[in-house]
Amino acid sequence: MYNYSLIFQGTAFTSKSAKEINIVKDHLFCVDDSGMIANVVSPEDPRYRSILQEYEDKSNFYRLKEGQYLFPGFVDLHIHAPQWAQAGTALDLPLNDWLHTYTFPLEAKFEETSFAKKVYEDLVHTLLKNGTTTGLYFATVHREASYLLAKICAEKGQRGLVGKVVADDPEQNPDYYRDPDATTALEETEQFIVDVKELAKTTKQGVYPVVTPRFIPSCTDEALKGLGKLAAKYDTHIQSHCSESDWEHGFVKERFHKTDTAALNDFGLLQDKSVMAHSVFLEDNDVELFAETGTAIGHCPLSNAYFANAVMPLRHFHSRGVDIGLGTDISAGATPSLYDNAKQAIVSSRMLEDGVDNSKSPEVRGVDDSRITIKEAFYFATAGGGKSLSLPIGLLEKGYAWDVQIIDTKAKGNSLPIFDEKEDLDDVFQKIMYLVKPENIKEVWVQGEKVVGD
Ligand code: GUN
Ligand code: FE
Repeated sequence: MYNYSLIFQGTAFTSKSAKEINIVKDHLFCVDDSGMIANVVSPEDPRYRSILQEYEDKSNFYRLKEGQYLFPGFVDLHIHAPQWAQAGTALDLPLNDWLHTYTFPLEAKFEETSFAKKVYEDLVHTLLKNGTTTGLYFATVHREASYLLAKICAEKGQRGLVGKVVADDPEQNPDYYRDPDATTALEETEQFIVDVKELAKTTKQGVYPVVTPRFIPSCTDEALKGLGKLAAKYDTHIQSHCSESDWEHGFVKERFHKTDTAALNDFGLLQDKSVMAHSVFLEDNDVELFAETGTAIGHCPLSNAYFANAVMPLRHFHSRGVDIGLGTDISAGATPSLYDNAKQAIVSSRMLEDGVDNSKSPEVRGVDDSRITIKEAFYFATAGGGKSLSLPIGLLEKGYAWDVQIIDTKAKGNSLPIFDEKEDLDDVFQKIMYLVKPENIKEVWVQGEKVVGD
């Protein structure tokens, strides 16, 4: 007698390393009642037959059909939830103008929770349909609406890590959209942390509060220092933007006479559960600090093309021990799909390798050995994201959460070009990565619960 809650029989793709995938053919995936993978059993294992015998006629046994495959759920390391309302628009200005012209006026509207509810429900649903089972979100400066986002993740079954944004510097933020002062910003953040930790107790998959200084230019020293202390006191994740554009990188250097990374570290904001979006213009010592502190990079290749006008040297930073995952950066990235961003990561890395040398920033353009493969892109969308968050997610192995996408390569409306029943599974994997649309994502499960599908 076994004591599993769910059994799936089928073929899965999961990372073996950053460069290699494991094709786990016709295995049994046994999930316990907490939604964790308790066992992965191969057809050669003597237990295979006995588990099948016990479960195959039961309602908690799922046999994947011909043409269906298991993928780990994707981990999106950087999403601005309110900006879903302007996705696909407003990309004609550089970062600071974009913030003041479009983004701050939009985010200010989230003071009204009825508006926030509409946007956040639609976003979380859309991300799940695109295979994103874990999201690291920036909300807005409003505590109430930020909590609502965490609640919507909790209700829809997504693993949401949510930050109430802190932006208190009156010189850098408009009066209509900022924290009134550092003390209030810290009090509101602390209350938010306490509330989300309470909410988490009601969920199976977990929701997490995240300490979220928008970026150094938005915050006073007092707020930054206080946020580092709050993260330590409550052992929370931390997120921000780091070295994301020439303007922003230069702004911090002028203010502190040091890099963004060094300044964030001095405020206690770099630790094992920190994720810094972009981090395009890291210098040598910065890369070392990221690796030493366990700080991860949320790599947003689409958004970097718009706001950094450059490519983050993913392979080089990763080879020096920095954890990296992928982010959509909605709405500076105009797609909710990590499949799109995985493809863009490949394209950008090829342009970095082959691009024209530019004397302004030679270290990020025209750099040898930069190209990544589709398998590396898959790693960063899954296991790399999980490692960045220090959570057991992103791999379909014993001890990891049952967060999966069931991919149907024969879905109506987008049947993938697989014409040979015996097509090499490595090729099937690549076709999925390049050609899948939400129609092919038949079901999505988070922590052993079905969140998309009939
Ligand atoms: N830097 C500070 N705020 C933002 C934002 O909302 N989006 C992006 N891409 N960068 C930022
Ligand atoms: Fe961002």
